[in-house]
Amino acid sequence: MSQRLTINQNNKPIYDIVYEHDFEELANELAAFDIADKKLCVITDSKVKGLYADEVCSVLKDRCKMLVVYAFADGEQSKNLDTVKDIYAFLIENKFERNDMLLALGGGVVGDTTGFVAATYLRGVDFVQIPTTLLAQVDSSVGGKTGVDFDQYKNMVGAFYMPKLVYMNIAALKTLDDRQYYSGIAEVMKYGLIKNANFYEWIIDSMYEIHERDIETLEEMVLKSCTYKKIVVEKDPTEKGERAILNFGHTIGHAIEKYKNFELMHGECVALGSVAAAYISWQKGLLTKEEYYEIRDMFVPFNLPISIDKINPEEILALTASDKKMEGDRIKFILLKKVGKAVIDTSVTKDEIKAGIHEIYFSEEDWDE
Ligand SMILES: NC(=O)c1ccc[n+]([C@@H]2O[C@H](COP(=O)([O-])OP(=O)(O)OC[C@H]3O[C@@H](n4cnc5c(N)ncnc54)[C@H](O)[C@@H]3O)[C@@H](O)[C@H]2O)c1
Ligand SMILES: [Zn+2]
Repeated sequence: MSQRLTINQNNKPIYDIVYEHDFEELANELAAFDIADKKLCVITDSKVKGLYADEVCSVLKDRCKMLVVYAFADGEQSKNLDTVKDIYAFLIENKFERNDMLLALGGGVVGDTTGFVAATYLRGVDFVQIPTTLLAQVDSSVGGKTGVDFDQYKNMVGAFYMPKLVYMNIAALKTLDDRQYYSGIAEVMKYGLIKNANFYEWIIDSMYEIHERDIETLEEMVLKSCTYKKIVVEKDPTEKGERAILNFGHTIGHAIEKYKNFELMHGECVALGSVAAAYISWQKGLLTKEEYYEIRDMFVPFNLPISIDKINPEEILALTASDKKMEGDRIKFILLKKVGKAVIDTSVTKDEIKAGIHEIYFSEEDWDE
């Protein structure tokens, strides 16, 4: 029996997340949406198409009215309005109507882009998330945020739009390259740090199985992460308040990501941002020194960085201040009171942020000392 979670809004079920070890159950899950009478378009990227599109199509092909696949080049550079326009054109060519359905098969880029197309094509068509990266399974496929980048501005254009279903094939995580995989682990550790100390301990205790990508451990890890995301997004579906705690590690993390021109993985930047935020939490008397060092050092065995060279801390600070998570001229900073408990703090000063950035900055002078 597969495991499932239900995401609710105002105490009403909105969509289910199902956890499977293959794509076999996809057609049965979709039968609840009368796909026999619908056209289906699987939207994916060039890489995931080669890995999983045939398998997904073989499960669905005799169960719906028509099935087509649209693939765009993989990578963040495709997450833009040109791709959205190309997908609209493809759907129009194939005479997709209001009642038809889109399936997002891939990582966060595919999910965010497809979700935005679904939100806007004919003023909204049904869509299903089939996330295949760890980041997409534990984060981007849950919560209904969709959108694309605009010029150099990330996620500038978008909509809150809920999927009908999130179908997770946990086994798909086995084909991720190591860097991509561990980048997702940073988000998993984030849930432990902000929401649940027992889960954080579990991650550390399960280190060996996580490295091995043991399927049962992966399933538990993804399911638990989604449970924490569920708690937060159900309380605050459109990010008016508490949802901000999901940005732990992301304020400085995003600044580093931009500064390094997206050469580092998102999760690597989140790890660095988390170390800086934990340091600030210590400096502000929320964490003890021991707690800070433990949090910092625990990223290392998961192949995540805790220091970075060749940066200009002043520029990172400026980029941090220009991030969109601002309240007036105050940065909405997420700090830790202890492992498992995050707080929103609007009193963090520029000097305190600068000290946090310096803490993770590994300059060449450090070698000479
Ligand atoms: N909507 C949200 O709430 C939310 C939250 C967090 C992040 N995001 C967005 O998610 C995006 C990043 O997502 P991502 O990290 O999944 O990146 P991605 O979608 O670019 O995928 C990363 C790479 O992995 C490949 N890939 C995907 N699945 C694979 C598999 N099973 N095996 C091997 N390779 C596979 C892809 O082809 C791609 O090359 C960003 O654009 C970010 O803004 C959105
Ligand atoms: Zn993130």
